[in-house]
Amino acid sequence: MDGGKTILRALAGERQAVPPVWLMRQAGRYLPEYRATRAQAGDFLKLCYTPELAAEVTLQPIRRFGFDAAILFADILLLPQALGAELWFETGEGPRLSTLTTARDLARLKGKDDIHATLAPVYETVRILARALPRETTLIGFAGAPWTVATYMIAGRGTKDQGPAHALMRADPALFDALMARLTEATVEYLSMQVQAGAEVVKLFDSWAGSLKGEAFSRYAVAPTRAIIAELKARHPGLPVIAFPREAGQGYVGFHAATGADCVALDTSVSAGWAAEHVQRHGCVQGNLDPRLMVTGGEALAEAARAIVRAFAKGPHIFNLGHGIAPDADPANVEVLLRAVRG
Ligand code: CP3
Repeated sequence: MDGGKTILRALAGERQAVPPVWLMRQAGRYLPEYRATRAQAGDFLKLCYTPELAAEVTLQPIRRFGFDAAILFADILLLPQALGAELWFETGEGPRLSTLTTARDLARLKGKDDIHATLAPVYETVRILARALPRETTLIGFAGAPWTVATYMIAGRGTKDQGPAHALMRADPALFDALMARLTEATVEYLSMQVQAGAEVVKLFDSWAGSLKGEAFSRYAVAPTRAIIAELKARHPGLPVIAFPREAGQGYVGFHAATGADCVALDTSVSAGWAAEHVQRHGCVQGNLDPRLMVTGGEALAEAARAIVRAFAKGPHIFNLGHGIAPDADPANVEVLLRAVRG
């Protein structure tokens, strides 16, 4: 491991006087250069599947801001597409997929080893980035966690309360469990290929973990994450993993130990003081600035960023937002943020 990279040092458990920093969705619509490249690609999925352009938008925020990490430009819904789901994006509305609600739908999915034909351009993007990034910048690969991906596959779109996925879980638990198992094994293959292509860290996005309560949280957020991490670390010894069980609340406590994650990413619903005491005790944390401050900016942004740095100063910390940066964020506010964090 390169002892010099700040993100890798944090993930190894090192406390740093100035925490490394990157932002979820740092390549995105708030940047004019992203909008230009996206227009050049034609549409979002074309951008994801054109390695030169996907690498270009990954690099744009690194050039502009010098973040400590670059995150592969792709989407969590490329994996279901590679498994055979239809996927498209409705402008202004978000993703749409063919729905999966029956055993026949599940049987039509491709096997875990048949995803790579579709995903080959993503691996090529990773290879380009591994060559092009500055030596101090860490390259993060990612996938959706099985529960979050399943919520989109079952409903065919994003849902407020993940109702269709919860309904299938109750109505046909065997089918639901079989889908989770298929996604778990496919996610391992997908991330393993990203690592072979040059990703140095991987992150699992469980954006809808918060709607899993009690036993369901253990079964569908913790267990698949643990299984994926165990298999990835067996194949790639020393690979650091970041897990983001968004809105997990009390479920954040013990999540490092329960899953083997090296870093747990925090949303804005928990206070940094609470998380320092109850979560950071067990390992590196990432987060958790309110993304709205990237729109409003000013001294409120700088002070909130400094408060998070102070709260997490006693242990390993990667500075980030509690969720993705919004399209209406002001790029100038990223400069304000970086001055506040880096001093
Ligand atoms: O963070 C990054 O810069 C890396 C790229 C990345 C994207 N999506 C690009 C993207 C990552 C890590 C994701 C993850 C993702 N995708 C998640 C998990 C994180 C989260 O936000 O909770 C989810 C749930 C998705 C599914 C998805 N993709 C949705 C719901 C949407 C529409 C919402 C929106 O912001 O428009 C997308 C589209 C998407 N993925 C965009 C980007 C930059 C916007 C597309 C565009 O350019 O029009």
